[in-house]
Amino acid sequence: MTARIALNFEDGVTRFIEARTDETVADAAYRAGINIPLDCRDGACGTCKCRVQSGAFDAGSYIEEALDAEEAAAGLALACQMRPRTDLAIDILATSAACRTAPQTIEATLAAVEMLSPSAIGFSVETAEPLGFLPGQYVNIGIPGTGDSRAYSFASAPGGTRAAFLVRNIPEGRMSGFLRGATPGARLSLTGPSGSFYLRDVVRPLLFLAGGTGLAPFLAMLEQLAGGAGGQPVRLVYGVTRDEDLVGCDWLDALAARLPGFDYRTVVAAGESAHPRRGYVTGHVDPVWLNGGDVDVYLCGPPPMVDAVRGWLGEAGVAPAGFHYEKFAPAVAPRAAA
Ligand code: FES
Repeated sequence: MTARIALNFEDGVTRFIEARTDETVADAAYRAGINIPLDCRDGACGTCKCRVQSGAFDAGSYIEEALDAEEAAAGLALACQMRPRTDLAIDILATSAACRTAPQTIEATLAAVEMLSPSAIGFSVETAEPLGFLPGQYVNIGIPGTGDSRAYSFASAPGGTRAAFLVRNIPEGRMSGFLRGATPGARLSLTGPSGSFYLRDVVRPLLFLAGGTGLAPFLAMLEQLAGGAGGQPVRLVYGVTRDEDLVGCDWLDALAARLPGFDYRTVVAAGESAHPRRGYVTGHVDPVWLNGGDVDVYLCGPPPMVDAVRGWLGEAGVAPAGFHYEKFAPAVAPRAAA
């Protein structure tokens, strides 16, 4: 039996490897040509310490000096000893370059593109091989005819040969300009996947907070959950600036029909909107959804929204059991995730 392991490096790069359940993560990585930090390979030095973000594993044997009980309880493990029981996502405490690896570049074909609203574009790409990523992650897409690229979150579940994206239409944006004039069949280069904003093990209720096209990674997560990884209540509050920015509701309705326990609300910030819920997402979170803090909160939106939600949680005196966020800004700014 084999497990699929996502190795997430300090520089945001993710590489996937296959590991047999009877081999260590270090051996599987080495077989894949990835040199994660190692020294004794015997559970004695702690050089291979890594952080397990999701999945189940057999920790193997080691001495206290290599990994103490407190570290193990906090999710650390030794790559030279641990064997996977399920698929895993692991933070490697080194850069991809230090481990002699790099993000992969995959050639893709533009399959469809659609102006969903004046402010949002939806498009999808086809690849020859299934795309590996963690739901919530992004990929850098080269802008044809330029040396430039843009980072976009996947809006579809991993594992298929077709991937969907939901992106902001920026009037002066180079990728937006390309997409507005693009026709199916155009060639695109995808480099990645990347990012630490992805769905962890679902062990408690989930609260998703999305701003604008920050909805995209949640669509990927919800698709994954609808595929069988659910079992907990999932609430989404999706805020936009103007009525015309509200896109993807048909998609969310379809997900709600497929995913028991999923419910969502839309919110429009503009005061002149006729939408039944106006204001900011924080004003439309039912306090009971915070479940006394026993909730995993995922947040993706522009920087002011992310800062506002963090401030709101602090003022409410709620420290969620899990809190993961991603800030995105138009055009060229690198993404920041936690
Ligand atoms: Fe020394 Fe793993 S390499 S504990």
